[in-house]
Amino acid sequence: MTDKLDFTPAAGRPEWTPFYDLAIALVTREGRWRRALLRQVAPEAGDRILDVGCGTGTFVVMLKRAAAGASVVGLDPDADVLARARAKAAKAGVDVQFRKGFARDADFEEAALTKVVSSLVFHQVPMDEKRKGFAAMYRALRPGGALHVADYGLQRTPLMRAAFRQVQRLDGFDNTEPNARGVLPELMADAGFVAIEEARVIKTPTGSISLYRAVRPAK
Ligand SMILES: C[S@@+](CC[C@H](N)C(=O)[O-])C[C@H]1O[C@@H](n2cnc3c(N)ncnc32)[C@H](O)[C@@H]1O
Repeated sequence: MTDKLDFTPAAGRPEWTPFYDLAIALVTREGRWRRALLRQVAPEAGDRILDVGCGTGTFVVMLKRAAAGASVVGLDPDADVLARARAKAAKAGVDVQFRKGFARDADFEEAALTKVVSSLVFHQVPMDEKRKGFAAMYRALRPGGALHVADYGLQRTPLMRAAFRQVQRLDGFDNTEPNARGVLPELMADAGFVAIEEARVIKTPTGSISLYRAVRPAK
């Protein structure tokens, strides 16, 4: 955390944001986990999808390209990344909306969304925000709607543990350690989600990235 911002920015420090896209491509096997996440979300016409902590907008653009008839909104507290995301979407020629806000603000419309997604966000937020974020994402979904999260999760092997230390040095131990111990499914359950599943675990040079899915129960 910096003392000027009340969140951890995309690349750990605000002055490194311009290098975020390049860094993610180099150190996370980005193509592999983003394509896997897209297949899991399976966006389709009529979907209303929110990307929480959308960052520079790479995944919102992928969602909209995959399903032109879906409504896609990106949410992020950082005005700098939102400007970059808007420029990326404009360059790609896709019509997506952006809002400034935290995960805890995801319920700006209640029970309105078919899908909520989030990638590489929850490892870098405090425990209280992880809880509030999942609760707000739950409220934002229609009954029967699905949550899809790709993030550093349980680090199962000494090699992945050691690799994840690089992220921990950048994003801080307190926020990242609960993820490494596998807390995310528990927090999803606490928020009310059911059918929680760690669908994939992808090893990367900075630790393993887990793809989770969960559902807001139908009424
Ligand atoms: C590592 S980046 C991931 C960006 C994007 N989702 C991606 O896949 O490239 C983390 C993002 O989470 C945002 N963020 C930080 N704290 C947040 C919070 N409490 N709620 C929502 N987003 C947050 C940051 O501004 C940053 O854009």
